[in-house]
Amino acid sequence: MTSTATRDPNQVIIFDTTLRDGEQAPGCSMNLEEKLRIATVLEEMGVDVIEAGFPIASNGDFEAVREVGRLVKNSIVAGLARTNRADIERAAEALQFAERRRIHTFISTSPVHMRHMLKMTEEEVLARTVEYVSLARNHTDDVEWSAQDASRSDIDFLCRCVEAAIKAGATTINIPDTVGYAMPQEYAALFRTLIERVPNSDKAVFSAHCHNDLGVAVANSLAAIGAGARQIECTINGLGERAGNASMEEVVMAIRTRHDLMKVHTGIKTENITRASRLVSTITGFQVQPNKAIVGANAFAHESGIHQDGMLKHAETYEIMTPESVGLHRSSLVMGKHSGRAAFRAKLKELGYEDMGENAINDAFGRFKDLADRKKDIYDEDVIAILDDEAGRQ
Ligand code: KIV
Ligand code: ZN
Repeated sequence: MTSTATRDPNQVIIFDTTLRDGEQAPGCSMNLEEKLRIATVLEEMGVDVIEAGFPIASNGDFEAVREVGRLVKNSIVAGLARTNRADIERAAEALQFAERRRIHTFISTSPVHMRHMLKMTEEEVLARTVEYVSLARNHTDDVEWSAQDASRSDIDFLCRCVEAAIKAGATTINIPDTVGYAMPQEYAALFRTLIERVPNSDKAVFSAHCHNDLGVAVANSLAAIGAGARQIECTINGLGERAGNASMEEVVMAIRTRHDLMKVHTGIKTENITRASRLVSTITGFQVQPNKAIVGANAFAHESGIHQDGMLKHAETYEIMTPESVGLHRSSLVMGKHSGRAAFRAKLKELGYEDMGENAINDAFGRFKDLADRKKDIYDEDVIAILDDEAGRQ
């Protein structure tokens, strides 16, 4: 891990947890071979940290972390562990072959988790944080500590925990919105307070980890960056527990497209985004909704006549990023009942019918509009049938 003193202060570390938190989505488990295929693509796209699993959770997770660690050379490979000896030693064992390894250890800090789940007092949580961050540091100098349910924790207690974790050697401090409860302004304020109040906060990278229960995981991640976070934990296609995690493609493309405002960058080669999204979707069987930002089938598709006309004149009229920037060959003009003459002429040209006479084009356009009123999906074959018929009548 690059030390905080030498890192580029404007670079946001992308920590992908598709293989760990993403896999926790019900019905989404992946086998070893599938995890290795995804890890390969993540590494190729320039992901900084790949969280490959929770080694103590199962032999399968242990193997996945070990094999991803063996395979991947450029990205840091992380293994998750609770703050106890067995978890940390198992994670360290799984990571033994990784060239660049991180132990990611976590404990809950919210009253509801401490009382009902951990049955621990604040002082016990604090003591465990210190003891097991220190133990993790005996295995690697790259240790991340997470305050599970941080966004529902008492701020004074959270400050004490973060201070203790940094003192014990944590190099990354993760502040998860575990249950997707925080709102962007509130989540940003949490980072600002921690970074301001905790002594030596500059010795660690602050990280955002957002769940999407209220649909604001990406907004929260971006707000956290504005408040000083320099690592974002996210998954491909926003896969994850319940409503999922912050979607990597959305965070990365927001940072890239709005660099004017965000003033930070990531090391992600965004041209690999579509490929990664399709691979994760094929492997997990979780289809991407058509209107999903960045990777949905309609993200670069235009149907209405006005939009199609604008697109044919200049792509920037209705596109804020190019399809090529996310690895798509081109935008698509979808033929439907809202399409106008300009798009119809463009389609005709694409299909090789540009030599048709004006009258035939007009008649074909009228027939196409009638058909589009009756039929939801208009395929090239439908347009070709009309064009052939009109050409035959000429
Ligand atoms: O959501 C969460 O709090 C987590 C932690 C284990 C980091 O996934
Ligand atoms: Zn999570």
